[in-house]
Amino acid sequence: MASIYVDVSGVETGTQLTVKWRGKPVFIRRRTQEDIDLARSVDVATLTDTTAENANKPGADASDQNRSLPPFSGEDTGEWLVMMGVCTHLGCVPLGNAGDFGGWFCPCHGSHYDSAGRIRKGPAPRNLDIPVAAFTDDTTIKLG
Ligand code: FES
Repeated sequence: MASIYVDVSGVETGTQLTVKWRGKPVFIRRRTQEDIDLARSVDVATLTDTTAENANKPGADASDQNRSLPPFSGEDTGEWLVMMGVCTHLGCVPLGNAGDFGGWFCPCHGSHYDSAGRIRKGPAPRNLDIPVAAFTDDTTIKLG
């Protein structure tokens, strides 16, 4: 199926753009330094799902560095996070800036995801999936 190109030039730090791709929501989050620091302070071994669930990095562990999307140019600060907006429990759409771990909260059955989209509490079994994605210039993300 077709790839799409998303202009992220208007996405402010601390906000999220949601786009629809292949019939599903995709969250494009521009994280604050606090979001990044929080995500990077976590010991991967303590997570429910210790794999990155990142289609761009098969088999990688769930460290924050393996979840964030590298920029087109410049240093990879972990600013960008691109994930499917589909709860890995039964497929509801999690709410942003919510939950106990500074990330997302799924109201359907109470799953809490952290600021890297990793499952931290509740019934969801896996981290939010990261689709094939890449920056094609400084302000454009290609999905698929
Ligand atoms: Fe998200 Fe059940 S669908 S917690």
